[in-house]
Amino acid sequence: MKNIALSGIKPTGELHIGNYLGMIKPALDLASDYQALYFIADYHALTTVRNRKVMNRLVYEVAASLLALGLDPAKIVFFRQADIPEIFELTWILSCFTSKGLLNRAHAYKAAVDANQSAGKQPDADINAGLYNYPVLMAADILLYGSHYVPVGQDQRQHVEIARDIAETINHRYGKVFILPQPLIREEVRTIPGIDGRKMSKNYNNTIPIFADPKTLRKRVMRIVTDSKRPAEPKNPNECNVFAIYRYFASPQAVQTKKDQYLNGGLAYSDIKQELYDLIDSKYAKSREIYLNLVQDQAHLDTILKHGAEKARAMGLRVMQKLRSKIGFR
Ligand code: TRP
Repeated sequence: MKNIALSGIKPTGELHIGNYLGMIKPALDLASDYQALYFIADYHALTTVRNRKVMNRLVYEVAASLLALGLDPAKIVFFRQADIPEIFELTWILSCFTSKGLLNRAHAYKAAVDANQSAGKQPDADINAGLYNYPVLMAADILLYGSHYVPVGQDQRQHVEIARDIAETINHRYGKVFILPQPLIREEVRTIPGIDGRKMSKNYNNTIPIFADPKTLRKRVMRIVTDSKRPAEPKNPNECNVFAIYRYFASPQAVQTKKDQYLNGGLAYSDIKQELYDLIDSKYAKSREIYLNLVQDQAHLDTILKHGAEKARAMGLRVMQKLRSKIGFR
């Protein structure tokens, strides 16, 4: 039997190349060596998305995006979290074995508290318990299917560690119920910079969206922040936001040539930006076309996701039965 690799993606808006390089591509690549599961974390999105139409749109958009980018539902179990009722049963059980202090230390919660404090508000102002319990829900996602590996970005490492902690607590008490999951983090794509040089993130409004129309795409690429060195001046490629993205899209040869141009002088930012735009555009042109068709065909997307949910539930039920019997529920 192959080991299980599971990834979840929160449907919160347009996917960007940082998502693609940091988590979508690595997760899709795992499908050849692992039994891969990939799900849309719509319950997690409920901590912030409070509008029916928006929720629906976001879920279908991310489903169509992943399929357009090459997720093959015949090879990867692809589903919606909200189609798996066992997630809740498991979340409750796990929460009874999770120390509150562990959740107090979770990054997202701590960041929200810090933000309140620096704004002079009560520490827990406007923080819902869903945000607080987010790591337990995520642990349920991971542990329900017996996941061995969880490919994630650096920002999710702590969540996988929390899942592992909770699993260890339960295993220690009841014997081996859960597989201890490990995060899989690709060193080389730790952080993809956005057009302003900070980590690419929707929160910073510095993304390059994958399925933007060519005009918007070009605008975003042209707006990547650089210094004001002239073409003839030598430059450090490792300090350039354009190069930091270019290296993921160009051939190794082209990357080397550009590196030399940076170091020796002779590189104009406008030229490498144009080249980068062409590379990104041609890389995703086919997927964009598929995406635009798929995203309109909700019935088709529903069929795929429902089918995936059946397979995922069957996997999860095995773990749940074992857990229930160990605890003494059946
Ligand atoms: N919290 C993850 C994120 O924001 C999404 C997620 C939810 C997830 N459940 C998961 C990722 C389980 C991996 C495994 O990106």
